[in-house]
Amino acid sequence: MPQTLGKGIKRLKGVDYVMEEKKKEEFIENDSKSKVIVDPWGKDLVQDYARLIREFGMDSFDNNIFPEPNLQMRRGVNFGGQDLEQIAKCIKDKKPFYCLTGIMPSSEKIHLGTETVIQNVKYFQDQGAKTYVLIADVESQATRQVPIEEGKRRALAFHIPAYIALGLDPKKTHFYFQSENKEVSNLVAICAQKVTENEFRAIYGSVHPAKVISAFTQMGDILHPQLGEPMPGVIPVGIDQAPHIRMSRDVARRLREEYGFFPPSAIYNKYTSALDGSFKMSKSEGIGKIEIPEKDTKDLEKKINKAFTGGRVTKEEQRAKGGQPDICVVFEYCKNHFIKDDKTLSKMYEECVTGKNLCGECKAKYGNPYAKKFFEDFAKAFEKAKKDVAKMKIGKE
Ligand code: TRP
Ligand code: SF4
Repeated sequence: MPQTLGKGIKRLKGVDYVMEEKKKEEFIENDSKSKVIVDPWGKDLVQDYARLIREFGMDSFDNNIFPEPNLQMRRGVNFGGQDLEQIAKCIKDKKPFYCLTGIMPSSEKIHLGTETVIQNVKYFQDQGAKTYVLIADVESQATRQVPIEEGKRRALAFHIPAYIALGLDPKKTHFYFQSENKEVSNLVAICAQKVTENEFRAIYGSVHPAKVISAFTQMGDILHPQLGEPMPGVIPVGIDQAPHIRMSRDVARRLREEYGFFPPSAIYNKYTSALDGSFKMSKSEGIGKIEIPEKDTKDLEKKINKAFTGGRVTKEEQRAKGGQPDICVVFEYCKNHFIKDDKTLSKMYEECVTGKNLCGECKAKYGNPYAKKFFEDFAKAFEKAKKDVAKMKIGKE
């Protein structure tokens, strides 16, 4: 499924690889008859994207439907979607639509994968979407025991300025707190009538009250922009959020007659690998991870230097056969986040597969300098965004 780079740009080698091939032995082995259960609050990751697409009734992502696809779209970071044609149509016909995402204020760090979500939100914002970003303080309280006030404090001090620093337009983004939004909580009560206990259990694997509260609040988030003026909306998310999308779409259909809701569309991005090449991103495991921000350049360099690569066992073998960028974490991070310029990324790829660069040389030429630049740019933009946020009125206080 090659990705094209859009008008006038040659197909970029190495950018259209399929990550499913990566480290096959680490894939969660599923009995082929069993359903894929995605637990939004769990640690298990599902890497079988093809299967997820099948079982969740998604479409594989086709960036040709969107004008000027962003880097994440062109480089295959987005792998699936639901009902994206209705969004493409709104863009084309200049009809109103919205884009919405949520932030869990559970730590003062942003996962690299979240950068993809933000770039997708920015893309739709630039295409004219009404943009909502909510702070999931209710969900953080219910599932992570973060006190609501603490969640708000973190969001104002870190997450909101960070989302702006990564590209959102503060003037065009409506930020709100779940705990303060009356429309959302009223809609929760309406949606609660439309799902049975068995359905909830089938989707989430449990009916724990904290999960019920969080899932319904998220459904309220996702659908509330349509109160008053029903319109299509797109929710960019990591795959762990697929159950919420599924339930929101079902409930939207059930409320269609009364409220005119459109089932929300979704665009799904792939997981980010951990530094050691595994798919696990849990804090205590492996050699750590790169998150936003990375303030200590030395530490960042150490992490990149220790990262799992697609290098060969010996120097001679690598010169002869070339490296394997398709399983290399350094290449993945550069492709998905650090190197924005297509030509530079193409060169990195070429110099790897032809054996021109050994991994140490490649990290010195590409991995380290571009990672450093990414975080320096972020730090600057973050300082500026903090000033913007100080002037904005977000929430009640
Ligand atoms: N549950 C999401 C997370 O864990 C946060 C969230 C809450 C959200 N409401 C949302 C995401 C609505 C997308 C849309 O990150
Ligand atoms: Fe990865 Fe670079 Fe080594 Fe290739 S040369 S495997 S891209 S670190």
